[in-house]
Amino acid sequence: MIKKKQLMEWEAYPSELDLTLADQKVLSLAKKHLEYSYSPYSRFKVGTGLLLDNGAFIGGSNQENASYPLCLCAERVALAAAASVHPNIPVRTLAVTIQHADKMIGEPAMPCGACRQVICEVEQKQQQGIRIITQGMKGEVYIFESGLSILPLAFDASFLL
Ligand code: THU
Repeated sequence: MIKKKQLMEWEAYPSELDLTLADQKVLSLAKKHLEYSYSPYSRFKVGTGLLLDNGAFIGGSNQENASYPLCLCAERVALAAAASVHPNIPVRTLAVTIQHADKMIGEPAMPCGACRQVICEVEQKQQQGIRIITQGMKGEVYIFESGLSILPLAFDASFLL
């Protein structure tokens, strides 16, 4: 038997003011889109912002349903919108942020497992990683170089094709 391990690496910044102006812009778009979240059941708003290779910005937010499993995550809403409006233009950066109605969350908001899988699918389709910028309701900002870097040993099309 041999032990295998994978190192995870990302960048941590004390606040959004420490980001480049371009990254600050994508993160502010995510914050703006918190406003459009429809989340009466969880009272947990998620906002996303995308920057595409052609310079386009696309926002997204979580959209819930009384039939809970139908809730749409903000990351997938934004990625589907980008693919619909700008087909075949690679997504360069995805920013995510959150707003909880009842408590302060200071840690960066991580995409759920299902969203990580979808981000990896888009990366494979566009043959290019998507930088992921995350922040909680305040404070520290994390930047990950790709979706694959937060979904180690991902399942992908190579198993099927
Ligand atoms: N949610 C997202 O929008 N993105 C994630 O990555 C995690 C969860 C949403 C789904 C639901 O509307 C609410 O957050 C609580 O799970």
